[in-house]
Amino acid sequence: MISDISNTAGKVDLAFLYITGMSVVLLVLITSFMVYSLVRYNVKRNPRAEQTEGNVATEIILTIIPVILVLVMFYLGWTNFSYLRNAPKDAMPVTVKGMMWSWHFEYENGKQNDVLNVPVGKPVELVLTSADVIHSLYIPAFRIKEDAVPGMKTHLWFQANELGSYDIFCTEYCGTGHSHMLSKVVVMAQDAFDEWYASSGPAGKENKGLQLLQDKGCLGCHTVDGTKKIGPTFKGIFGRKETVITEGKEHEIIVDEAFLRKAVLQPGADLVKGYPKIMPKMPVTPQELDAIVSALKDLK
Ligand code: CUA
Repeated sequence: MISDISNTAGKVDLAFLYITGMSVVLLVLITSFMVYSLVRYNVKRNPRAEQTEGNVATEIILTIIPVILVLVMFYLGWTNFSYLRNAPKDAMPVTVKGMMWSWHFEYENGKQNDVLNVPVGKPVELVLTSADVIHSLYIPAFRIKEDAVPGMKTHLWFQANELGSYDIFCTEYCGTGHSHMLSKVVVMAQDAFDEWYASSGPAGKENKGLQLLQDKGCLGCHTVDGTKKIGPTFKGIFGRKETVITEGKEHEIIVDEAFLRKAVLQPGADLVKGYPKIMPKMPVTPQELDAIVSALKDLK
């Protein structure tokens, strides 16, 4: 009932269990007493009304017990809240950027990823921000959640106790792709993490564009394996025949370099038929655009 999958999970579970348990106990006690009173003091058994004066002992008991119960709730809430809010000094910082519609993680050494890799048994501090609208990072297994707000830094920390892969959701409605804004926390053994952390990311000319597609959040909506997501897949995009809608008129085109460039710079100007017009405008430098277009050409 109380999870120890992370240092935070058990604390939240305990508070939750206490409050739920108390509520159930009180519900049963109060309801039973009500039903008992209905039967015991009904009009047939008590034809004549009688005045009852207060009872000091009952009043004292009914004041002290709830105060204690509520103070325990306050204690659990306060101590665990301050524990959850204050990351230990030696926590590994990871910058988390939410964007429509993907999560992006950046480590101290500059390493970037779209999955949150962390070592087991080490505190990790997440510093959250957003590139566009308000998102909210939620890791249900660890019972932690925090908003990612544009122009602001918010914090969250945890220490995972068990190896494995756990869901990350966005829990702030952020537009059409909200339900696709998923990622994972991958808890790795220290050795495996160190090896991953020290390894350089995908390098080389053609991979730089791919890395950009990932970093800019494009892969939140477009796949590279042929599956349909919110937008058309990038697989085999170059030279593909598409029906597009330009200023309300449908026409057929063959995807070429000029089309790809325009699609990045003026999203939705030529909208591929069958997809919603929701692509946000991404800031890209001319060099980045070149790299992206050349990567798209290579995605056969
Ligand atoms: Cu991001 Cu919902």
